[in-house]
Amino acid sequence: MRRQSPLLIYGAGGSGRETAWLAEQCWEHGADEVPVAYLDDEAAKVNSSIRGLPILSLQDAVRKYPRALFTAAVGNPATRAQLTERAKHHGFVEHTLVHPSVIRSRHIQFGRGVVVCAGTTLTTDIKLGDGVQININCTVSHDCVLDDYVTLAPGAHLCGNVHLRRGAYVGAGAVIKNGTPAEPLVIGAGTVIGAGACVTRSFGPSLTLVGVPASPLRKRVADAA
Ligand SMILES: CC(C)(COP(=O)(O)OP(=O)(O)OC[C@H]1O[C@@H](n2cnc3c(N)ncnc32)[C@H](O)[C@@H]1OP(=O)(O)O)[C@@H](O)C(=O)NCCC(=O)NCCS
Repeated sequence: MRRQSPLLIYGAGGSGRETAWLAEQCWEHGADEVPVAYLDDEAAKVNSSIRGLPILSLQDAVRKYPRALFTAAVGNPATRAQLTERAKHHGFVEHTLVHPSVIRSRHIQFGRGVVVCAGTTLTTDIKLGDGVQININCTVSHDCVLDDYVTLAPGAHLCGNVHLRRGAYVGAGAVIKNGTPAEPLVIGAGTVIGAGACVTRSFGPSLTLVGVPASPLRKRVADAA
């Protein structure tokens, strides 16, 4: 009889449905963890279901699946950090999901609760912090460091020696040019890079960057993780 560990998907939105699919694919390729329910904090969603998977409140999940594994499934870095803290506070344990199609070397350091979606390539000597979310079809090159709760939206590309600090968000199709070993290209905590931007130098924290080459749209105040 095959071992089955119940896995909770925290967030019953679009990202949650994609993460449930990712978890199903991992299960079909031999992982022990099987998605059994969504968690959501929105009262209106709780007690309904999505394609057979129930949506539970944290309190109900504690009763039904005490100390189960969970994966936080929202794109916003600050929200993902909050959900993770809440779930851990209720006794749940972070779980990392890496799609079977991901191409990667043995030289990747994974934090807890990391998500890496289909079609992504991670080359070598890469550090992924806790709660990092890497969406479909991204590339992450040598010597990149993604601190806790960094998000890469679909099709983001990081060249070598890039350091994204905590809660930075890289929009769909954005490109970040390489740094050097002596001087990595650094993006500050909570900075958001708009879809399609090309970032050619380091930037500080809490900015919104857009365009080619990327420049600040404005200072962010609300979302810094
Ligand atoms: C950059 C971004 C964060 C700005 O969002 P916002 O703060 O709500 O900004 P607005 O939509 O009000 O746009 C403000 C201005 O920036 C421009 N702008 C917005 N996004 C832009 C982008 N990606 N590139 C270039 N310009 C952009 C708008 O056209 C607008 O210009 P205007 O003032 O001349 O009309 C957002 O547009 C973005 O690109 N987010 C990433 C989306 C993504 O990758 N999603 C993936 C989901 S999986």
